[in-house]
Amino acid sequence: MKARIAVLPGDGIGPEVTAGAQQILEQVAHLFDHKFELEEYLMGGCSIDRYGTPLTDETLADCNASDAVLLGAVGGPKWDDPMAKVRPEMGLLGLRKGMGLFANLRPVRPHPDLMHASPLKPELLSGVDMLVVRELTGGIYFGEPQGRDSQPDGNTRAFDSMVYWDYEIERVVKLACNLAAGRRKKVTSVDKANVLETSRLWRQVANNVAVSHPTITFDHQLVDAAAMRLITQPSSFDVLVTGNMFGDILTDEASVLTGSIGNLPSASLGDSGTGLYEPIHGSAPDIAGEGIANPIGAILSAAMLLRHSLNLESEASAVEAAVMHTLEEGCRTIDLRQEKALSTQQMTAEIIKNLETQKR
Ligand code: IPM
Ligand code: MG
Repeated sequence: MKARIAVLPGDGIGPEVTAGAQQILEQVAHLFDHKFELEEYLMGGCSIDRYGTPLTDETLADCNASDAVLLGAVGGPKWDDPMAKVRPEMGLLGLRKGMGLFANLRPVRPHPDLMHASPLKPELLSGVDMLVVRELTGGIYFGEPQGRDSQPDGNTRAFDSMVYWDYEIERVVKLACNLAAGRRKKVTSVDKANVLETSRLWRQVANNVAVSHPTITFDHQLVDAAAMRLITQPSSFDVLVTGNMFGDILTDEASVLTGSIGNLPSASLGDSGTGLYEPIHGSAPDIAGEGIANPIGAILSAAMLLRHSLNLESEASAVEAAVMHTLEEGCRTIDLRQEKALSTQQMTAEIIKNLETQKR
């Protein structure tokens, strides 16, 4: 098949891990006889430096016109001034919103060989296979009003607003139920309904959706309790569905189960086929430029791209199997093992080697 893929490497380690994911896509194209046109764009801090804005209208339009978008990470100390008018993260949020990507899928499946890399006891980790479905274009990330004002007495306040429309909740919970139908058929909806009105609406709408999915075991959990259960009984979860900020926080926590945040991929989906694929980790300025970042989150994001936007299931599974194999062979980047750690490029090369054997 022919596909156009927009590539937004971003800042920090973004370009390093994205280079790995691009090589994987090129190798998939070669092995499976596809034609992928990969086009790179600036987004985030690098775009601020060049154009004064983290996301230009042209880049957004080109992303929307592509079959899929592959993204690295954005941000860094250079753009961290709290008084700055523009921030790299605004580019990412603008992209999610501008592409209508209301659902962010974050699968968490610890590899058996990495269980000792997690601070949790291995017996807690066995059988963990969860999918967090994070609402991505609503909630406190986007609610208005947002800002600051000062009182005559000299005090300054800042405010953000948590806003959810019923239809925003409905579509993401529906998607979670549909995804659960192809898995263990359990959905846990996470909220803070004992305190927040948005969460009470969330619970009500979620219940209505659950009624039309009778084969799904549906339950609700408060976010504080869910945070605890994630590390005390992680294998009890199948699909979690939650709002934008709770999903952000819980998935960083969940990544610890896999040994490193560097391992986790994500897919952001909306109503159109064009999805956005990015590792859940950030730009890691502390190790940027050293060539030591873990490319697995980015490479598994490329696998999700093949599956969800291009409908290439065998290709996606081949990439995932190649990653599994590489880990089974003992290859590790420095986030997973201090001694004999491979560089980003070496790890990528090992995965490519295994992809070739897969195909043969
Ligand atoms: C993520 C990141 C982003 C978010 C930041 C960089 C804006 O933490 O994708 O999880 O909060 O959504
Ligand atoms: Mg995050």
